[in-house]
Amino acid sequence: MKKLERIDKLISNMGFGSRKQVKAYIKRGLVKVNGEIINDNSLKLDPYKDRIEFNNMEINYRRFIYLMMNKPKGLVSSTNDPSNKTVIDLLPDEYLVYKPFPAGRLDKDTEGLLLITNDGQLAHRLLSPKKGVDKVYYAEVAGYIDESYKERFWNGLVLDDGYQTLPAELEIVESDVISKVYITIQEGKYHQVKRMFESISTRVVYLKRISMGPLKLDDKLEPGQFRELTEEEITLLKTIEV
Ligand code: URA
Repeated sequence: MKKLERIDKLISNMGFGSRKQVKAYIKRGLVKVNGEIINDNSLKLDPYKDRIEFNNMEINYRRFIYLMMNKPKGLVSSTNDPSNKTVIDLLPDEYLVYKPFPAGRLDKDTEGLLLITNDGQLAHRLLSPKKGVDKVYYAEVAGYIDESYKERFWNGLVLDDGYQTLPAELEIVESDVISKVYITIQEGKYHQVKRMFESISTRVVYLKRISMGPLKLDDKLEPGQFRELTEEEITLLKTIEV
C-alpha cells in the first residue's frame, strides 16, 4: 500500500520553502491537488497518484534520485568540505533539494563512476563488504606487470597496515614502462587499489572506476558530467540482495 503524505510536508521537502511558508502558500490558494485549490494544509495524499500544482506549475514528486557521475580529478567525494570543491557542488539546485550524497568515495585524484543518490538503502547494498559487489577499476601503473601478478592479486595482498585483501582479479591490458590493467575488487578500504599496488612496489599513476556491480560508467559522460540513471539501471541495482 502506498504511503500517504501530508501536503505541506511534501511541498516543503521538494524545496519550495519551510513548512510554515508552505502553509502560508496554501492559505493564499497557491496549491492545487487534482485541479482543485486546497486550503487544508494537513490534507494527506498519494504523491505518486495525485496531481499537485504549486503556483500553477505541476510538481513532479520523487522520493529518490539516482545520478551517475563521471567524477573528474580534483574534486572530493563528500557532501561538503571546507577546503575542497565537492562532487555535489557540480549539481544544480533542482537535485540539491533531495540532499544527495555520493555512494562510496573515490580519491580526489581518481576519476570515474560515482553514484550520487539520497537512497541510503541502495547505497548500502552497493557498498556493504558483505554483499561482495564487484568494483572494476582501470589503472595505469608505473612499471612492467607480468602474468605472475595475477596470482598474487588473486591470493590476496598484505597492505601496509597488515590487512590481507580478499581475492582480486587482475587483467593485464598492456605491460610496459607504464602498464595498463583492469582490477576487480569487492571491498573498499581506504586507497585500496593504490595500496594493493604499493604492496608489490608499484605506483598507480592513473585510476578510474569503470563499474560497480551491474552499473557501468556511461562512456558518453565526460569527466564532470552526470546523468540520471535509467529505470533499467535502477532496477538492476535493486536486484543486489539486501
Ligand atoms: N582505490 C583507490 O586507491 N582509490 C580510489 O579512489 C578507489 C579505490
